[in-house]
Amino acid sequence: MFGQPTTIVIFGATGDLTRRTLIPALFQLACKGRLPDPLRIVGFGRRDYSDDRFREFMGEGVQEFGQLAGRTGEWDTFARSISYFQGDLETPANINSS
Ligand SMILES: NC(=O)c1ccc[n+]([C@@H]2O[C@H](COP(=O)([O-])OP(=O)(O)OC[C@H]3O[C@@H](n4cnc5c(N)ncnc54)[C@H](OP(=O)(O)O)[C@@H]3O)[C@@H](O)[C@H]2O)c1
Repeated sequence: MFGQPTTIVIFGATGDLTRRTLIPALFQLACKGRLPDPLRIVGFGRRDYSDDRFREFMGEGVQEFGQLAGRTGEWDTFARSISYFQGDLETPANINSS
């Protein structure tokens, strides 16, 4: 598994589940070296976020739910693997181009 390029796509990535649970859990695994490398995490949601705004929003969640203390350098590294794709699942063209 390690060394195998891996992409995780999260649908509904601007929602509470992603911010409260999924990204903090993935960040914890990353800190323990338990994720594939290289890894990309692509968030999919309707909000018009840039990659940077989405990373910032996820970082706020990690901070709020307590996993960031003393780990801002690790977060900065992890956050670089995160990107965002804006679209609506009700719009087939958004799915085909993602
Ligand atoms: N929150 C939890 O702790 C938790 C725990 C267990 C299970 N769940 C389950 O997990 C699911 C998600 O929960 P959540 O709390 O994250 O919900 P939420 O906060 O309401 O978020 C919903 C997400 O889905 C996106 N979305 C909705 N309709 C969409 C569409 N047509 N096209 C693209 N994106 C769309 C929203 O995008 P925008 O915000 O950009 O519009 C948002 O990212 C639910 O089924 C919930 O029951 C949640």
